[in-house]
Amino acid sequence: MEIIKTTNELKNFRSQCEGSVGLVPTMGALHEGHLSLIQKSVEQNDITIVSVFVNPTQFLEGEDLDAYPKQTEADLEICRRAGVSAVFLPESKEMYGEDEPFMKAPKISGFVLEGERRPGHFDGVLSVVLKLLNLARPNKAYFGKKDAQQLHCLEKMVSAFHLPYELVPCEIVRSSEGLALSSRNAYLSEAEKIEALKLSRSLKIASEMIVKNEKNSQIIKQEMLKILEPLKVDYVEIVSRDFRALNEVELGNTIVLVAAFVGKARLIDNMWV
Ligand code: PAJ
Repeated sequence: MEIIKTTNELKNFRSQCEGSVGLVPTMGALHEGHLSLIQKSVEQNDITIVSVFVNPTQFLEGEDLDAYPKQTEADLEICRRAGVSAVFLPESKEMYGEDEPFMKAPKISGFVLEGERRPGHFDGVLSVVLKLLNLARPNKAYFGKKDAQQLHCLEKMVSAFHLPYELVPCEIVRSSEGLALSSRNAYLSEAEKIEALKLSRSLKIASEMIVKNEKNSQIIKQEMLKILEPLKVDYVEIVSRDFRALNEVELGNTIVLVAAFVGKARLIDNMWV
């Protein structure tokens, strides 16, 4: 497995690749969720490139950029075992120059929910992913549905700018109890991990209500909020696949999302119905 630190090395590596290339962009502290994307890429492509880069431009002032978990050796070992061909591990100065152009998230779907709470976040995500895509020029790039709005904004970027890359959405991986895996779960104590199960439980209640034919978003959200108590809830929302608020659940076109604080961690989870 190659360990690549510079953009030039990555471009050289790519130009020598024969066969199909899969890219898995990550910020490291890899867990089974990341691994599921990596495994899918290894299955579907001749070459898999994983990037590990804690992208400063997607963190807001006061967020956890400096505290973000780092475990480079363990990440490399996970990649090696999974059959990854190359890991791209750039420094910030390798990825960003001075006075550069920058992407803008879509005005509506990029500025509700996460985009509203974290203004500028998706601009940073789009900018770094655009760079990574153009460096690795993958046939397919793999993204988790765990970050549903990120996936949506990326799909819009690929479509709007006619980028010749296919994005592959991947299912959410959870612990056996239901907690959506996240690098930020490392911030949770054992007691907080139990509290954090309220997020997936609230989605389960929503799913049960929808199965019983309850379609009214307000009624579903109220039940979810009861389950989430006493957590500090950032939002509970029911939106269409293009992130417009829905008064009624539309089967096949709905995402139910929740964001809440557990201790100092801000956790997100969602369910596609
Ligand atoms: P990161 O949070 O490291 O996630 C990397 C990829 O793994 C994302 O596509 C994310 O949706 C996916 N992922 C995380 N947890 C998952 C889970 N439990 N199940 C399935 N997939 C999961 O998302 C980012 O990094 C960054 O914003 C990035 C796209 C790398 C740009 O900097």
